[in-house]
Amino acid sequence: MNKIINILKEKKTIPLDQFINISLYDKEFGYYMKKNPIGKKGDFITSPLISNLFGEMIAIWCISLWEHLGKPKKILLVELGPGDGTLCRDLLKTFMQFEDFYNSLEINLLEISGKLKKIQKSKIDNKKVKWIKKINEVKLGPAIFLGNEFFDGLPIKQIYKKKKLFFEKFVGLSKDHKKIKFLYKKANNNLIKQIQNLNLISVGNIIEYPITALNFLKSIAKKINKLGGGLLTFDYGYISKKNQNTLQSVKKHKYINPLINPGHSDITSHINFRLFYEILKENKLNVKKITTQNEFLKKIGIIERANILSKKMTFTEKANMFYRLKRLINYKEMGGLFKVLFAQKKDGKFSLGF
Ligand SMILES: C[S@@+](CC[C@H](N)C(=O)[O-])C[C@H]1O[C@@H](n2cnc3c(N)ncnc32)[C@H](O)[C@@H]1O
Repeated sequence: MNKIINILKEKKTIPLDQFINISLYDKEFGYYMKKNPIGKKGDFITSPLISNLFGEMIAIWCISLWEHLGKPKKILLVELGPGDGTLCRDLLKTFMQFEDFYNSLEINLLEISGKLKKIQKSKIDNKKVKWIKKINEVKLGPAIFLGNEFFDGLPIKQIYKKKKLFFEKFVGLSKDHKKIKFLYKKANNNLIKQIQNLNLISVGNIIEYPITALNFLKSIAKKINKLGGGLLTFDYGYISKKNQNTLQSVKKHKYINPLINPGHSDITSHINFRLFYEILKENKLNVKKITTQNEFLKKIGIIERANILSKKMTFTEKANMFYRLKRLINYKEMGGLFKVLFAQKKDGKFSLGF
């Protein structure tokens, strides 16, 4: 909290995206830089930690894409924001069972947090895995970019529209300098132009502009156009065109005000998948359909796989596996709340899971 207060004492106000960036990713102060927030004992849980079936099914999907591409001699998997490394560890376990694929495989893990990188390294001891800091470091293709809850944790801007005027959300200090508060300032022309170009202004009066995510999408699209491959991403999000205020903060599996404990709680927003779709299309990629996690996992055979595994399980093991599977695919839980998007080169025709 002190770091933000000191910055605000000096600068008076900072835009929302800068506030999120400092709260989550500042080298000393940032939430993701100090500890591992994921898991039962942390603040929130993600699909790979719920069940290893998640990673196993995605591994099969990756191998199918590689086959569809004509089994290239080299294939690169780039995991975006690998968290505690569970997904990569589970993927590798399955990949190892497919010798030809495994021999062709290299993996890049894109991670900003030194703390999480250490945890990932303790789980993954494999010469095929290299850590990178920027998309630009991706040199090998075809490249499969894979993200689970990567984009929804990136800083966003919020803009409030009142009649024909636009105001950007900022963060500032209360009079006694003890509390942080939100305030709005007139948006500058450059920002207005950007949201107008994105077609974001038509519906609703709170506009969310995922500026960092869109920059990532553009550089990933550039790589896919050059090297081949695709982007598969799972995120909390919506498909309707309506703009929504989705900024939220989570601590110990409960929602809290993002201003109360910055640096000690996660801050996320939901993905506007329609916007993602349009940006990827604009950047010459082919996105056929956006689906739900339920539909995707079911289409690639997660239930059949669970039934096969259950044959060798005790009653308790079975109950545990199906309970976890339900959490992954139930519509009211991750199955419906999480959407899945796959983007590939313009002429790509891979559609497994969609
Ligand atoms: C919500 S966690 C998701 C973790 C993991 N994918 C999972 O499903 O358990 C977000 C991850 O993205 C990483 N991250 C966030 N911003 C990043 C950036 N700009 N570059 C690289 N990694 C980033 C975080 O450090 C963290 O590993």
